Amino acid sequence: MAEKFYITTPIYYPSDKLHIGHSYCTVATDTMARYKRLRGYDVKFLTGTDEHGQKIERIAEKQGITPKQYVDKIVSGIKDLWKELDISYDHFIRTTDDYHVKSVQKIFKQLYDQGDIYKSEYEGWYCTPCESFYTDVQLVDGKCPDCGREVERLKEESYFFRLSKYQDRLIKYIEEHPEFIQPQTRQNEMINNFLKPGLEDLCVSRTSFNWGIPVTFDPKHIVYVWVDALTNYITALGYGSDDDSEFKKYWPADVHVVGKEIVRFHTIIWPAMLMALDLPLPKQVFGHGWLIIDGGKMSKSKGNVVDPKVLVDRYGVDAIRYFLLREIAFGQDGNFTNEALIQRINSDLANDLGNLVSRTVGMIEKYFDGKIPSDREETEFDASLKDTAKAVTEKVDTLLDKMLFSDALTEIWTLIRRSNKYVDETQPWVLAKDDSQKAKLANVLYNLSEAIRIVSVLIQPFMPNTPKLIWKQLGVSEGEATAWDSAKTWGVLPADTVYTKGDVIFPRIDMKKELAELEAAMKAAQAASVANQEKKAEEEQKEEPVPEITIDDFDKIKLKVGTVIASEKMPGSKKLLKNQIKIGNETRQILSGISPNYTPEEMVGKKVIVLTNLPPRKMMGEMSYGMILVAEDENGELSLASVDKADFADGSSIS
Ligand code: MSP
Repeated sequence: MAEKFYITTPIYYPSDKLHIGHSYCTVATDTMARYKRLRGYDVKFLTGTDEHGQKIERIAEKQGITPKQYVDKIVSGIKDLWKELDISYDHFIRTTDDYHVKSVQKIFKQLYDQGDIYKSEYEGWYCTPCESFYTDVQLVDGKCPDCGREVERLKEESYFFRLSKYQDRLIKYIEEHPEFIQPQTRQNEMINNFLKPGLEDLCVSRTSFNWGIPVTFDPKHIVYVWVDALTNYITALGYGSDDDSEFKKYWPADVHVVGKEIVRFHTIIWPAMLMALDLPLPKQVFGHGWLIIDGGKMSKSKGNVVDPKVLVDRYGVDAIRYFLLREIAFGQDGNFTNEALIQRINSDLANDLGNLVSRTVGMIEKYFDGKIPSDREETEFDASLKDTAKAVTEKVDTLLDKMLFSDALTEIWTLIRRSNKYVDETQPWVLAKDDSQKAKLANVLYNLSEAIRIVSVLIQPFMPNTPKLIWKQLGVSEGEATAWDSAKTWGVLPADTVYTKGDVIFPRIDMKKELAELEAAMKAAQAASVANQEKKAEEEQKEEPVPEITIDDFDKIKLKVGTVIASEKMPGSKKLLKNQIKIGNETRQILSGISPNYTPEEMVGKKVIVLTNLPPRKMMGEMSYGMILVAEDENGELSLASVDKADFADGSSIS
């Protein structure tokens, strides 16, 4: 029976803009899953979405839809992206799935019944976007240590998980299992920065919002983020359900692939929960680095995200997957630049690989009408080419087993470059001129085809499409000559195949021209999504015909006079201005869609009327605390509403 291999990505927060950084994690996991399948393992590859939490609840509320309606919309987009990137997951879990909800409730109750979860009161600093609590010492300049945004003080009755109880067992386990946390540096970080200083019990329920899994025995509580999220790795296998056969087969996970910022949750909280449930721990947690752009982590709020769809549309999925895994050593951070991407496509894919295939097949067509004669004579350069192939195939498995993707690709490219050198050494175009050299020529072209075949087998986990294009040109069908282990044997390519030159696999790109076009395409994609957001925001603001109101209703509206003290354009938006408004003793930031009717310069100094008691709202990554009143004529022209006396004191109430 085939050995099992269970591999997972983190479950993603539903976002309408998963960027190339998110794709990186999933592409790497997919590559590993494909590799293990090729090796004959019975692979289970899990991915999914982490759908609960206050942030989702708030966004949905603003859009006037239920959180479930909101996540349903987003999740289908995420699945589309994975399809475009050829992600071969076996199971997609949503934390809103019924089986997950039921199993989480069971787990929570069991931990409570056995005393690992207890009720107490939580007081701390809470960051809504990160959905995390922080202690005083964890804050950085009074702000969230992870995202740098404002935090709020919260106190509420909560359930706690006895994380502290597992501290010593965790340290012992990690020290005794050096392979558990990879790469090694992250292991030291966990022990020295988190475990040795001491673990505090963990808040695992909330009462201040509703979008989560209710605690069955105390329904005003919902299960708070990490217990809900981390358990996905076992609920997806049916743990806690009537049919746990998959759990029995695949657990423990062979590897959880996660970004470096969530290694702590996966190597401390998750194993402690598993210990409490008396379940085996995952064999490995691999914490990869981040894709960095302009020196910082790519993020939607910074507006520096690279859209994977644009890249795939322009260069094809295989080129993108190759670039991600070749350019950055898995485990370390790596810079993403358009130049580096195009450079790699041109040098590694078009020049090295593409060229080798097209000139080899081209020569076979030209000199032998697409069929290599069986009469062959060795050359003095053959041994070295075959040795390189042998050495490469021996190393690739070991490197892939350690998830050293970039090193594995470097090895494969050693064979490609060696093959190109073999062409230069043997000079087939010279052999072709001399009839007495035909047997040598046949041998050279067969050897090149064989090297290409070996390369095509080895790149399968990384590039799901290119190998098939190559096999078509070599005239081989999927089977013995394309199986993973066939790469280890020289001479598997059948002697009598019919070669057919196809389209160029990776066309060369004109760097200068492409850089400009790519930037424009990224901007257009971003503008399309901004226009979408603006349209949505406009729709939200459109007034429904409203019934008459009472004076009490009107009293709820808190209008005040304000003075605009600063104003600037919101990057990427045609309409929004970001204004700072002085209202008596306070200054508020208010975003307003009044450009192009007013320029930022015209705004400064204006007296405006502000609706002050709207809930804060985020638009395009910036917060807005209220609304500036404007009049709109039938042509859509806008005019600021104001007070009659230009020197009227700001802060004054309007009634
Ligand atoms: N929902 C949690 C995970 C719960 S797992 C039980 C979460 N979601 S996430 O959507 O924010 O991130 C998903 C994965 O994408 C993480 O592994 C994260 O590290 C990765 N990345 C997000 N941005 C990234 C880069 N810029 N570069 C590389 N990976 C990045 O965390």
